[in-house]
Amino acid sequence: MSMFQILFVTFLHYFSVSILAANTTYNVLSYGATANGKSDCTKAFEAAWGAACASSSPATIYVPRGRYILGNAYFDGSTCKNNAITIQIDGTLSAPSDYNAIGNNVHWLKFIRVTGVSIRGGTLDGLGPNLWACKASGKKCPQGATSLAFLNSNKLSINGLTSINSQMFHIVVHECRDANLQNIKIFAPDESPNTDGIHIGRSSGVSITNSRIATGDDCISVSPGTSNLFVQNVACGPGHGISIGSLG
Ligand SMILES: *[C@@H]1O[C@H](CO)[C@@H](O)[C@H](O)[C@H]1NC(C)=O
Repeated sequence: MSMFQILFVTFLHYFSVSILAANTTYNVLSYGATANGKSDCTKAFEAAWGAACASSSPATIYVPRGRYILGNAYFDGSTCKNNAITIQIDGTLSAPSDYNAIGNNVHWLKFIRVTGVSIRGGTLDGLGPNLWACKASGKKCPQGATSLAFLNSNKLSINGLTSINSQMFHIVVHECRDANLQNIKIFAPDESPNTDGIHIGRSSGVSITNSRIATGDDCISVSPGTSNLFVQNVACGPGHGISIGSLG
């Protein structure tokens, strides 16, 4: 090999390594999260999101195994430079045990104005039973929060997520374009109030496939302004079926 060939091969090697390294991982533990089911991890998750957003190369926010308590967490994409953020969740995200902590807000985990976000795996536990018991007692209680909401967002993917016992709706996709939901599992008891599985509103290009949804209310509900919605191989029940709001 000539010196030139050696340099060239070295260059190729470097080039491919740097391409592989371009997907940076932001581990929530490095931002102060503790997976002990006690510490509030809201700030840590929001900080990991901020760091991933500040970079324009593909990023992975990694949530290792364990139980993380989160209050209302907002993932705002308005000033995000990144359009390829994967959130790989091997653990469980749990609402705080006091339902008032999130129950007076409409959304628990809210993504707003994001582009190119993928959620892989993970379990969300809304701890709904505490709030439902309050509602059943006739006392004055908060309305309850949707567990996971994507608002005004584009190019979304949720694959392999499990959501249990949301206080209200489990997943909401509102004013979004191009959202792909697959291998989703949603569970809440038969008699739990307003625990719709997936609610779609004012969105286009949404597909929901290969999923299992068992809740106390609608499996999938669709409100006005939605077009190009594709649903295939979704098992519904107990609870209601697929309800198409003002469409017909
Ligand atoms: C970044 O890495 C994650 C985890 O391996 C992967 O799921 C994702 O597709 C990668 N993103 C890009 C843009 O390659």
